[in-house]
Amino acid sequence: MKTVYFALMLCLLSCGTNNDQQSGTTKASSNTTMSQDELIETGQSLFLQKCSSCHAVNMTLTGPALKGVEKRWHSKDNLYAFIRNSQEVIAKDAYAKDLFESNHKLQMPPFADLKDNDILAILAYIKNASISARH
Ligand code: HEC
Repeated sequence: MKTVYFALMLCLLSCGTNNDQQSGTTKASSNTTMSQDELIETGQSLFLQKCSSCHAVNMTLTGPALKGVEKRWHSKDNLYAFIRNSQEVIAKDAYAKDLFESNHKLQMPPFADLKDNDILAILAYIKNASISARH
């Protein structure tokens, strides 16, 4: 009779250990959504890699200052498409055509590999940088 109790105790103990390991795995894989801070950080690093050679937020460089850029575009789709391939949008959007002509017809290079989320992050960074630097 004693041996049966002992075996039962052993089973309960080892079952407990297994459960602990399982809850550990669930915790590690549940963190998938990006916070606003992480979005801005991702946007900043993309901006520095790909855009800052021609653009600043508050100052005109080769390209226009990007502060408030989302408000200047009537169509969000065209803004995203312009960043991926400006020439395509200049052909069909009057605002983009004017912009191109008033920037000495300098052609912005295409960034076809940027995903919607990458552009969202870059725009979040621009918006955040416009708020924190008031000049
Ligand atoms: C080689 C220079 C260059 C680089 C690099 C560049 N741009 Fe541009 N960008 C321009 C120029 C020049 C314009 C003005 C429009 C035109 O000439 O077609 C422009 C215009 C824009 C506009 C429209 C601005 C407005 O006032 O409406 C946006 C938005 C923009 N760029 C975003 C970006 C983003 C995001 C990146 C990085 C992923 C980037 N650009 C990289 C040169 C550049």
